[in-house]
Amino acid sequence: MNYQTLLTDELDGIGLITLNRPEALNAINTALIDELSTALDYCERSPTIGCILITGGDKVFAAGADVKEMSELCYPETYLDDYLSRLDRVAQRRKPIIAAVAGHALGGGFELALMCDFIIAAENARFGLPEVKLGVIPGAGGTQRLARLAGRAKAMEMTLTGRIIDAAEAERCGVVARVVPLGELQAVSLAAASRLASQSRTAVMMIKECINRVDEGALAEGLRFERRMFHSVFATSDQKEGMRAFVDKRTARFRP
Ligand code: CAA
Repeated sequence: MNYQTLLTDELDGIGLITLNRPEALNAINTALIDELSTALDYCERSPTIGCILITGGDKVFAAGADVKEMSELCYPETYLDDYLSRLDRVAQRRKPIIAAVAGHALGGGFELALMCDFIIAAENARFGLPEVKLGVIPGAGGTQRLARLAGRAKAMEMTLTGRIIDAAEAERCGVVARVVPLGELQAVSLAAASRLASQSRTAVMMIKECINRVDEGALAEGLRFERRMFHSVFATSDQKEGMRAFVDKRTARFRP
């Protein structure tokens, strides 16, 4: 299948999905969400694919949800459309998904990586939830998944200040499974995916399901709450100012 925003490949039992909007640093727009959903549906159905690998290449993973697309959105349209809910389908997949991250994984890009079962990061990887600087909040699970992985203090600091952390700090605080030199990211990630794909598919999928049971109920409730808050922030003048400022390449001026 031909995609506008993705490159896909199948090798050695691995469904390889590469985000491919280099002109926008792989920013996640509606087309990308739809195509990712279609590509993952294919991988889930394929009898030959045992593991899925999502990457953005070696320059950037994804610089967030597409701010240019989002800047004119309003409430209650965000609520009525259940904006971004389709992205969270990544986390509901049954086959294992590895994220191979190089460069920036910010906002929705970081949230996409957090939906995967684990992250392998290159030394140049940078992670952050800078939504607060745009006058909005994370809306694809960032507050919930980061707090669970990195703990409350780190999640509070990163989301309230928008501070971006490097790969070493991300590994120290439990956000990434491994950090490797950039030149080895592809080979190491493919080897890990290949190992998963060659194990008992039943055992692998059962282990994933068991670990996801750890706090499934509480996570689902937290995700729903975060998404509703995210939808309603589109009723504020801060969202309009923050996102227009990004598009205009200036610093946002929020009212006190
Ligand atoms: N949405 C849309 N376009 C984006 C984008 C985004 N999230 N991030 C970058 N781009 C675009 C830029 O506008 C620019 O386009 P033009 O060439 O047309 O001007 C192009 O990608 C290259 O970007 P920069 O010139 O900014 O590249 P840089 O190397 O100087 O900076 C960066 C890189 C630090 C990642 C910077 O681009 C950046 O800060 N991006 C935005 C990060 C962000 O705020 N992400 C959160 C988005 S909100 C969100 O994700 C909500 C949610 O929870 C779902």
